[in-house]
Amino acid sequence: MSFFTNTDSGIILNRFSQDMNIIDSHVPTAIGGIFHSIASIMWDTALVCYGSYYMAACIPVLAAVVYCVQLFYLRTSRQLRLLDLELRSPLFTHFNEMKDGLATIRAFGWQESFYQKFIQALDASQRPYYLLYMIQQWLGLCLSLLVAAVAIILVAFATQFRSQTSDSAIGIALVNVIGLSTTLANLIRQWTNLETSIGSIARLKQLEASVKPESSTGQADEPPTDWPSAGAVTYENVSAAYDETAAIVLHNVNLSISPGEKIGVCGRTGSGKSTLISLLFRIIPVRSGAVKIDGQDIATISHDSVRGAIIAIPQSPYILSGSVRFNLAPDAASDDSSGTGHAMITDDEVITSLKTVGLWPIIERHGGLRVPIADVGLSQGQKQLLCLARAILRKDTSRLLVLDEISSSVDRHTDELMQSIIATEFEKHTVISVAHRLSSLKGCDRVIVMDEGRIVEQGVPDALLQKEDGWWKRLWDAQV
Ligand SMILES: Nc1ncnc2c1ncn2[C@@H]1O[C@H](COP(=O)(O)OP(=O)(O)OP(=O)(O)O)[C@@H](O)[C@H]1O
Ligand SMILES: [Mg+2]
Repeated sequence: MSFFTNTDSGIILNRFSQDMNIIDSHVPTAIGGIFHSIASIMWDTALVCYGSYYMAACIPVLAAVVYCVQLFYLRTSRQLRLLDLELRSPLFTHFNEMKDGLATIRAFGWQESFYQKFIQALDASQRPYYLLYMIQQWLGLCLSLLVAAVAIILVAFATQFRSQTSDSAIGIALVNVIGLSTTLANLIRQWTNLETSIGSIARLKQLEASVKPESSTGQADEPPTDWPSAGAVTYENVSAAYDETAAIVLHNVNLSISPGEKIGVCGRTGSGKSTLISLLFRIIPVRSGAVKIDGQDIATISHDSVRGAIIAIPQSPYILSGSVRFNLAPDAASDDSSGTGHAMITDDEVITSLKTVGLWPIIERHGGLRVPIADVGLSQGQKQLLCLARAILRKDTSRLLVLDEISSSVDRHTDELMQSIIATEFEKHTVISVAHRLSSLKGCDRVIVMDEGRIVEQGVPDALLQKEDGWWKRLWDAQV
């Protein structure tokens, strides 16, 4: 969780696109290229020496000069290559942000400043690339001059010591000298490529070492197969923070929810409602205390099992690309099979759930369950209803339903419809729902008011309304 909060999306994208790509495609070609160049150089020098034996004496000098040139070139190009790769991250981040916030940028007329920022990031990311190109040209020039010197020495030897060699041998030597500078430049370039590719490997290794996978944070006991059979939730003196070093955002929360109880959670923005719910899914760890479901401390259960045991509908509807059916039952049988997948959700069940939420007429009009969801063109509220239908299909798999502000983007009428569907479909389930619109919590058995990470009031909504100067009453009065 803290990794995603603290790391730019561009850096993650860079690691998983560019670095992976470099390792997959550049490393093998660079290694192959290096061996090829070394073999060519050995062959070329042998033929040059054959043209004039005295040339053999020049080889160590030549090797020393090449060594010095590459020392200088490698050091510079290594840094430039790293800059080149690193400076793409801000570009990716900026591009991602622009893509996500396009509507906001247009609405506030920020196009020009975002465009300028984008151009700056683009320029910055291109600069090392051009500098790299320039030092490559410099390398080419150095090596060409070197080879020109070799050619002159060769010709000098050939003309001064005519008895030492034959015309044909000199011819072969001269032809090979011409190719030598390209081969030398290739060798050094391939070597740099290999070095930078190894930089990518190092970055990925560092990512792997520094980002701990979630599952390693707790020992994983497998819960009983029917867990959670009742759906009781208890928070025992729970304090929590978003990572080990961050400030505590939830302070000593004690809460006991009995099986089948309908709980509403409300409170001002930033009061800790979503944090309270994140704890239930082990998205953030508890600092102290324990969260238990049916008496079982969830810290001792694997993340997957905990999450699999709860039905959740998040604030923003999550729609997958694919057919309507796939969206409702992604883990069930795929579209073209006849409902024989492990989850065994039949078309009839899917249709029934869609009828319950009132979406079936629209979907039927567009061609039924097999049409791509994008073709149906659902509004934000309708997408939320689709998520509700998805939850209804899973209702037998768990006794616990968690809703985080599901009605924030629907009108009052749809909100009431959703509340009544939840009340009938999830009658026996424990339901924890977070809402800003207090009227949608009126039907709850108990409401919990949070403020600054603490539970400041709880009770039956109607009774709390009688309490003058209570938290619930104040929030209620502010909304009506
Ligand atoms: N990803 C995060 N990293 C660090 N701190 C966070 C993060 N998300 C929330 N917080 C902090 O936790 C506190 C509680 O936030 P939380 O999201 O639980 O509030 P909320 O009651 O759900 O608010 P809202 O009604 O706006 O959804 C806030 O003070 C916030 O600063
Ligand atoms: Mg929230």
